[in-house]
Amino acid sequence: MTSIAPGALPRVTYSNIGEDFSGVHAHLDTVIPDVRSRLLGLDRPNRIGGADSRDGEAFDAPCPIDRRISLGRFVAASPAAVDAAVSAARRAADDWRRLGWERRVALARKVADAMEAMKFEMAAACLLEVGKSRMEALGEVEEAIDLVRFYAGEMEANGGYEKPLLRANPKEETRDVLRPFGVFAVIAPFNFPVALSIGMSISALIAGNAVVFKPSPMAGLTGRMLMDCVTAAGLPDGVFNLVCGGAETGAALVGHAGIDGIAFTGSHAVGMAIMRGFGVGGRHARPVLAEMGGKNPTYVTASADLATAAAGMARSAFGLQGQKCSAGSVVFVHEAMRDEFLERLAATAASFRIGDPAGRDVFMGPVINRAARGRFEMAVAAARAAGSAITGGRVLSGDLYDHGDYVEPTIVAGLPDDHALHRDELFLPFLTVRTFSSLDDAIRRGNAVPYGLTAGIYTQDEAELDLFLDTAEAGVLYANRASGATTGAWPGIQTFCGWKGSGTGSKGGLGAWYLPQFMREQSRTIMR
Ligand code: UN1
Repeated sequence: MTSIAPGALPRVTYSNIGEDFSGVHAHLDTVIPDVRSRLLGLDRPNRIGGADSRDGEAFDAPCPIDRRISLGRFVAASPAAVDAAVSAARRAADDWRRLGWERRVALARKVADAMEAMKFEMAAACLLEVGKSRMEALGEVEEAIDLVRFYAGEMEANGGYEKPLLRANPKEETRDVLRPFGVFAVIAPFNFPVALSIGMSISALIAGNAVVFKPSPMAGLTGRMLMDCVTAAGLPDGVFNLVCGGAETGAALVGHAGIDGIAFTGSHAVGMAIMRGFGVGGRHARPVLAEMGGKNPTYVTASADLATAAAGMARSAFGLQGQKCSAGSVVFVHEAMRDEFLERLAATAASFRIGDPAGRDVFMGPVINRAARGRFEMAVAAARAAGSAITGGRVLSGDLYDHGDYVEPTIVAGLPDDHALHRDELFLPFLTVRTFSSLDDAIRRGNAVPYGLTAGIYTQDEAELDLFLDTAEAGVLYANRASGATTGAWPGIQTFCGWKGSGTGSKGGLGAWYLPQFMREQSRTIMR
């Protein structure tokens, strides 16, 4: 396979949709088959204290695009293996802290370089593992690399978060320092297995914590690739440990007394259980940095540019098959624009190719598994029972469709306003439509959900925009975006804070306040 010099091809982000990516596509035409033939189906053990570990039950993870293909053979770490990983992290933590932030930042940058060197392979692996499109997969790996460099830059710009304080007396020397907690568990989901895993992990590491990382059981392939990047960068053994597995491994990790903090991205139910148990259920409170999904509304007002609104809404609702916590899953459209907007939206959705995302023009791959498909069928049945108008709604069959869970992008209009489908996160390509005559009222209805992650608006009226910015209850707001009504946050450009049931803290990821949450404050007064 030909290697590509960094910078030789344009970078794919989630929002630069208009660029010419023909060179990128041509390269991926060779990388994806190469990764498929060379990197799938292999043994991918865990890594604990700098050594491979096969302690636990081996399992095969199927490729969601075609379940006949195995992504590889992974090991669900046993409770004993989890214990060994936590012990290895504890042994490594003091030296890692004492190494100092400058050297940790330098090593983090080497992790970014190692990722950059294999970015196309990692993107292809991510595509095959999640069933996401080429552009989503490459965008994610670019985001992941930027996350590492961004957080490294934050540590540096803040001088390791050591600040002199005032003196009450000339003889006293006073300082404020942020110090690592010790050992963090990082628990990541399947949908952004590269960016979310490394974003949480590298933050904990740069801050000076050792890490035990558990990827989703569906995402051990990129999980192990990240592990290998960290090893290649030269981080000391035991500072970063990989334990694959599902609920049992997760429970052993979360329940381990040697963990000082948890960074988690996933469902609201699991995040809250971690908060209640680990966070406040012990002898003292421990940090839980969780990002936990959304039911993200978009408002299309009477002043909206409907072409932009339909494009952005469709990408936000159906990109990555709606399996983003940032996905737009409910749209409020002004009564006067309803029919025209829905027509454009349905036309855009109908134009999306659904199939093997290895193909250049495929926009939607499969949903992740049978359970997701089951949720889709139930949601469509519930919408049908409520007598709503459904565009899409079918599970696809025939050829490749019989070997994965492929569903149509689905738009549901005319549900009663209090229907559960307007409130519950489905994590599917499933968009409900609500209408309004007063924007104020629409935003109130959009806010009336337990979540508060992202929200979008299409308007050309400054007063409407101001009302939205002032009253939308979400941590990430977007206006008039064609690349995604509610999706596509980028490190350092959009911060990503889950309000209400979408997060556990008041500060999010991708921005200036993330890193400090992996440290605790200490003031030091020394009489000289
Ligand atoms: C997620 O939505 O699951 O903003 C994580 C976005 C991406 C993904 C965030 N940065 O859409």
